[in-house]
Amino acid sequence: MGISQAAIDDLARRGAEQGVDLSPGLRLIEARLRELVAADLPLVEATSRYLIDAGGKRFRPMLVLLAGLLGDADPTDRDLVDAGAIVELVHLSTLYHDDVIDTAEVRRGAPAAHVKWSNTTAILTGDFLLARASELSAELGVEVTRIMSRTIADLAAGQIREVQGSAEASAHGMAPVSADRDHYLTVISEKTASLIASSCRLGALLSGQDTAAIETLTTYGWRLGMAFQLADDVLDLASEETASGKVPGTDLREGVRTMPVLLALEAEGPDSELAALLEATTGPEVEEAITEALPLLRSHPAMELARDAARLEAAKAKRALRPLEQHPRHGPVLEGLRYLADYAVERFA
Ligand code: IPE
Ligand code: IPE
Ligand code: MG
Ligand code: MG
Repeated sequence: MGISQAAIDDLARRGAEQGVDLSPGLRLIEARLRELVAADLPLVEATSRYLIDAGGKRFRPMLVLLAGLLGDADPTDRDLVDAGAIVELVHLSTLYHDDVIDTAEVRRGAPAAHVKWSNTTAILTGDFLLARASELSAELGVEVTRIMSRTIADLAAGQIREVQGSAEASAHGMAPVSADRDHYLTVISEKTASLIASSCRLGALLSGQDTAAIETLTTYGWRLGMAFQLADDVLDLASEETASGKVPGTDLREGVRTMPVLLALEAEGPDSELAALLEATTGPEVEEAITEALPLLRSHPAMELARDAARLEAAKAKRALRPLEQHPRHGPVLEGLRYLADYAVERFA
């Protein structure tokens, strides 16, 4: 059982309690994902299936299905299932690429693909998954293809923008940018919120909803995505590997300053012990500095402030749903979407 299976089961159970059972649609998406990565070369299929089989929360496919339920689709609708598979494939491709970028050793509780095989294999597997997603997008039409192409461009730009603000940038002669809160928020909008927003948008679009509803669900998804990454960045510092299936402190190791770190540095000032330790994470004493910086950050009030920032975005996501509340039959689905907003910020993985 994958590390996040418990989270999926929990989400599915909560949905079922409210009369929204996503399980049949999610099961179809699982089957579709494995069908889509079938390849002539067995190694390609094996490397592609690797992270699919390792688990994951399937958060984005769930959003496609829930958003679709607000239209006239049922959760086993063929187009919604395909869209759910598309967004998960694109997400997967970013995980293969991201672990090379972040030199992260563990993903979904298993050795990262580049550790198991090689950087080359991991990068090309990510490309293969993007191609499969694009082929399927084409079957769903020009609008879906356009949305996904723009989203993939945003994801890549966000990861490059992040590198540009990291310690690595100056070492590689990139024009320096000030890695402040605005920079951070733009990065997370591009690298995470864009795909979560598009997941909701595809669900709304493919279930025949009107323009206003499509925009409402896209706004909800974008806010939710901001909350999701803010929470992920707190978890990078706070959680243990056993809970997240990832190695804690990865952002620090990469010299990437996320919201809790930015807030802690603002409070402590440039001459503080924390600032000195974070500076050292770019030198040879990296592991020692991280071992010292992690407990300082974990006990810092900035952690709670960053959680508050995540909660605020989640609250805005829920508020964005208000225009949809007038339809009485929407009740249980909206409850599911609100639950996912709460889950995004109170989760442990
Ligand atoms: C990880 O996403 C990458 C981020 C955007 C933070 P998830 O937390 O959804 O990862 P899985 O799919 O459950 O493994
Ligand atoms: C997530 O950034 C962005 C992606 C598009 C994968 P992170 O680097 O924080 O993601 P995790 O923590 O490795 O999952
Ligand atoms: Mg990462
Ligand atoms: Mg992270």
